[in-house]
Amino acid sequence: MGQESLRLVTRGSTTGLMAWLSCTSLMIATNLTKSTTALCRISLTDHSSFPLEPSDNANVSFVRYKGDFYVSTETNVMHKVDPETLETTKKVNWSDFIAVNGATAHPHTEPDGTTFNMGNSYSRKGAYYNIIRVPPSKNAEEETLEGTTILCSIPSMEKTKPSYYHSFAMSENYVVFIEQPIKMDLLKIATCKLTRKSIKDGISWDPKLNTIFHVIHKPTGKVSSTKYLAKPLSTFHQINAYEEDGFLIIDMCASDDGQAIANYNIQNLRKSGEALDEVYNTLCRVFPRRFVLPLTVDSHTPYNQNLINLPNSTATSIRIDENKVLCTHEDLHGEDLLHYGGLEFPQINYGKFNTHPYQFFYGCGFRHLVGDSLIKMDLHGKIMKVWEQPGLYPSEPIFVPAPDATEEDGGVILSVVVTPNADKSTFLLVLDAKTFKELGRAVVPVNIPYGFHGTFNNTA
Ligand SMILES: [Fe+2]
Repeated sequence: MGQESLRLVTRGSTTGLMAWLSCTSLMIATNLTKSTTALCRISLTDHSSFPLEPSDNANVSFVRYKGDFYVSTETNVMHKVDPETLETTKKVNWSDFIAVNGATAHPHTEPDGTTFNMGNSYSRKGAYYNIIRVPPSKNAEEETLEGTTILCSIPSMEKTKPSYYHSFAMSENYVVFIEQPIKMDLLKIATCKLTRKSIKDGISWDPKLNTIFHVIHKPTGKVSSTKYLAKPLSTFHQINAYEEDGFLIIDMCASDDGQAIANYNIQNLRKSGEALDEVYNTLCRVFPRRFVLPLTVDSHTPYNQNLINLPNSTATSIRIDENKVLCTHEDLHGEDLLHYGGLEFPQINYGKFNTHPYQFFYGCGFRHLVGDSLIKMDLHGKIMKVWEQPGLYPSEPIFVPAPDATEEDGGVILSVVVTPNADKSTFLLVLDAKTFKELGRAVVPVNIPYGFHGTFNNTA
């Protein structure tokens, strides 16, 4: 690693949505850790928006805006963090800068530091999905989100039932919002305290609906009039997206059933042994998939035939109406991934290959509710390498390039590994990204909760 010190910062808890729903514990100073009174609450006011009064439990991920580190969940509150001490230094509210009620914990960053994200807004006309652009750098040291703008707003297909989304895709020229049929009933959620129901009761999977890909041109904010449809799918994390020969290639982790989200409740998470196995067995597995969208659909585009002419692609895109293209995916794996329970928490060599053609991605295999293996996928042949050890549960693999790397997989993989065995402590695992062989472990003499997203800071 040269002269750089190795520092991995991870956030621990549950998925973004569940964090938002349940205000779970975290390890960094926020109002929630200082007080037990914070509750996830949605309130209706006479303002034009539909404000959330959320927890500040920003426990999903570390993110960067204008070069600064923040911890983020999916509400409108983030915390700026000192990367040396990990102390929170400033509470930052998206709503102070733009009219959104939150933003995802998965922004995308361009090479110059410009950052894109998405967040919802609610008005009497219904719910909107907003594409957010944060400038690349600060004009003053104390700045946070000044200069942030909304690139465009997309109305929800169902006015009062926007889709839940955890992330989105970004290529060099486009943002792609995936409107999946996991629906949030705003009325039910807003009144859940009155009706003494859980927020979860306002969230549902509707397999009668298609998944819709909305393509937004980044330089202009123009939303494509062509809607790309796919069968109902559930996706939390995108892998990569890039443009090639007039097509937009989108790789993501997806499953055929969005009901799984309801199973991550506290009653199930308190189970163990066979009872917990039963919960896992009800869940649909998540696999890496590729969709290929033809970017130009005009009067010359034929109907009812596959428009994809990329060599070796088995994805299909068929024009079925003037502004509708029906897409089917290509599996980005072989049969061997079935044995490892599918793959989630995908990572790539983001700095050099995000928005570009690429060969490798990394992720966790899921033979249980938490990941129990690390997987490297070579897209040339869909060949896997696997790291696993019985009783050890690795977190999201973070790819860190070697300072002088010339190859896409030249570097290391970092993963925080936890175990339920009392005699083994948590450690940071370091793998050679090329061979997937273990290079070493940094043992931490305390138990760290199972974490989801982290980042590598090469300046600390
Ligand atoms: Fe996530």
